[in-house]
Amino acid sequence: AALTLTTAGTMLAGTPGQAAPTGWGRPVVTAAPQPGAPGLGDTYFPDYGNGGYDVEHYDVRLRYDPATDLLTGTTTILATATEDLSTFNLDFLLDVESVRVNGWAATTSTAGAHELVVTPARTVTRGQQLTIVVRYSGVPSETLVGGYTGWTRTDDGALAVNEPESAWWWFPSNDHPLDKATYDISVSVPTGVEVISNGVQPRPPAAEAGNRTRWIWRTTTPTATYLAFMAIGQYDIVTDTTPGGQPVINAYSTSLGALGPAARASIERTAEIVDWESGIFGPYPFEAQGGVAGPVDGISFALETQTRPVYGPGFWRRGANTYVVAHENAHQWFGDSVSVAEWRNIWLNEGFASYAEWLWSEEQGEGTAQEVFDFTYASYPADDEFWQVLPGDPGAARVFDNAVYDRGAMTLHQLRLAVGDDAFFEILPAWTAEHRYGNATIEQFQALAERISGLDLDDLFTTWLFTAGRPDVASVARKAA
Ligand code: ARG
Ligand code: ZN
Repeated sequence: AALTLTTAGTMLAGTPGQAAPTGWGRPVVTAAPQPGAPGLGDTYFPDYGNGGYDVEHYDVRLRYDPATDLLTGTTTILATATEDLSTFNLDFLLDVESVRVNGWAATTSTAGAHELVVTPARTVTRGQQLTIVVRYSGVPSETLVGGYTGWTRTDDGALAVNEPESAWWWFPSNDHPLDKATYDISVSVPTGVEVISNGVQPRPPAAEAGNRTRWIWRTTTPTATYLAFMAIGQYDIVTDTTPGGQPVINAYSTSLGALGPAARASIERTAEIVDWESGIFGPYPFEAQGGVAGPVDGISFALETQTRPVYGPGFWRRGANTYVVAHENAHQWFGDSVSVAEWRNIWLNEGFASYAEWLWSEEQGEGTAQEVFDFTYASYPADDEFWQVLPGDPGAARVFDNAVYDRGAMTLHQLRLAVGDDAFFEILPAWTAEHRYGNATIEQFQALAERISGLDLDDLFTTWLFTAGRPDVASVARKAA
């Protein structure tokens, strides 16, 4: 950091800093406010997120027109400065009209692939509360970075659903799971169009001038930026309440046609599956549940958007698919409540959600976890490229490689065999309790498993997560169940 030399008893005008103990004539060193870091130093995505502040809340107030894909709006960010700042960054791609910080107009510039650099009228002091108001507009489907958009425009609307890059196309943010926040998401659309997002609707949709309707959604539990979403289009919305009083809000694209019944037969089982998972993973961490069956021309994957996963149409082609529902809802614990501290820890998300499918198979009487292990292991020959990807460190380009999912689930099954069922089913809820609403690493998970089991698990984790090549199953230590 650049330092300003000053003299005891004086401060350079306009450079707030911690004054050192003073004595007449003794020089003291005062740190001048610095630019906030353009990234949080994630080993895979070093420029994702930003340094110098911590967001508590995003108020995202939008207007969207499906006919043109034009998105306009204002996002108000409530944050706290964690350093003295001359400038700070937001991750964002749309055209910014203005930024105000605590009421005063700020100047802005862009940098890198997705950085908005904000220079407030006055420097920011560590601990200061910040209210950052960003007004903007753009056509997200035509806003490309490296030829790519994470926004999906559809025949009747759009999906703001993607991982890990999603927020850049619809709200300015500190875009890394390390900085979770609550959200109010409000969207004005032409009347007759539905908007589904996270959490609950604090007010019913309200009519606005110009034959428009404003939808309001609210989350009250900490949410990572990539887990906030919008589904805009033609949807049937089905609401219910669990016996425990929790809202269940499901939505089905009307475009699904013959896939619609299979989508309903799957997503309508969300509350049952969440209840079953709660018995294994610990208390459900959020304020609402549900699922969104996306449109036929939407996404080709599913995403564990918080409180309400979104599913692409492909999951319904063979009829009902409760495995994907078990997978995405397992992520509510593993990924959404306990989030990666860095993206290299993606096994903590995908390995666990995949193993939840194996447990669901066992629960459904469709094959024990051991049978699924044997089948999965055998389906990848020893010389398959699959075994060359390390689930514990797959690299930025392979965070969603099959190895992270399948070898990741195999790893958990080997852990279960090594520690026994009693310890294994104690480790899972202990993990979700210990890191609830937080961030964690694979190293922390290994330490917890070792603490609970009393075993040294270094060989198991090294072999299954961090060593290329197909592990020899017979070599894995087995403890009597
Ligand atoms: N986390 C998602 C899952 O549950 C994967 C998302 C993959 N992202 C993508 N853009 N294809 O499997
Ligand atoms: Zn997943």
